[in-house]
Amino acid sequence: MAIFGSGPVGLMAQKAAWINGASRVIAIDPLNYRLEKARKVNNVDTLNPDEVDVVEAIREMTGGRGADVCVDCVGFEPERTIIDKAKALINFEVGSMKVLDMAFKAVRRSGTVTIMGVYGSTYDNFPMHRIFDKGLTIRQGQAPVLNYIDHLIDLVKEEKVVLDDIITHTLPLSEVAHGYEIFDKKEEDCVKVVLKP
Ligand SMILES: NC(=O)c1ccc[n+]([C@@H]2O[C@H](COP(=O)([O-])OP(=O)(O)OC[C@H]3O[C@@H](n4cnc5c(N)ncnc54)[C@H](O)[C@@H]3O)[C@@H](O)[C@H]2O)c1
Repeated sequence: MAIFGSGPVGLMAQKAAWINGASRVIAIDPLNYRLEKARKVNNVDTLNPDEVDVVEAIREMTGGRGADVCVDCVGFEPERTIIDKAKALINFEVGSMKVLDMAFKAVRRSGTVTIMGVYGSTYDNFPMHRIFDKGLTIRQGQAPVLNYIDHLIDLVKEEKVVLDDIITHTLPLSEVAHGYEIFDKKEEDCVKVVLKP
């Protein structure tokens, strides 16, 4: 399973992948401190898209086949080049679907792409041909939390999942603005902030 993005959502998706029987979990993120966190807390393989061709690397790691499942935990605000930004401007698009595009390329034929990251715009050049040709299944949307919460609490109670290992900052409520700032700007190796009233 290949999981794009190693923020709080990606780290949780990595945990869910192991719990649900994945045989190998590959985490992708341009921030090395987040990949380090992913290796430490979730024992995953990691790829940095600024250092390797992620699609090629995933193909190589899966015997040329591609990942069974690709999960987009980035959404429409990935790190973008000036060219990405210019293309978005010309096409009247908000952000970019470049991560989703990578997921469609890196998944195996008849595989599944799950979209957890948020998208809120239309996109030109949507790769319908690739989705059709590979016979892909796409799952996406806001997490239906009420549907799963009892099961998830049971997983914590039974110690099948650890949650607090992704927390990097515990702050008083009076420092909420600072907490948001370091999370937004990815400063101080921030991954997950918990506020204590
Ligand atoms: N579906 C839902 O119910 C739900 C719930 C909560 C959050 N979300 C969404 O999930 C997404 C992730 O949330 P988060 O809190 O983990 O955010 P985050 O910003 O902390 O994490 C996103 C990660 O993606 C990485 N990234 C950027 N460009 C990349 C690329 N090209 N390839 C791989 N990784 C790349 C960033 O470095 C960052 O670590 C957001 O879009 C958020 O809105 C969805």
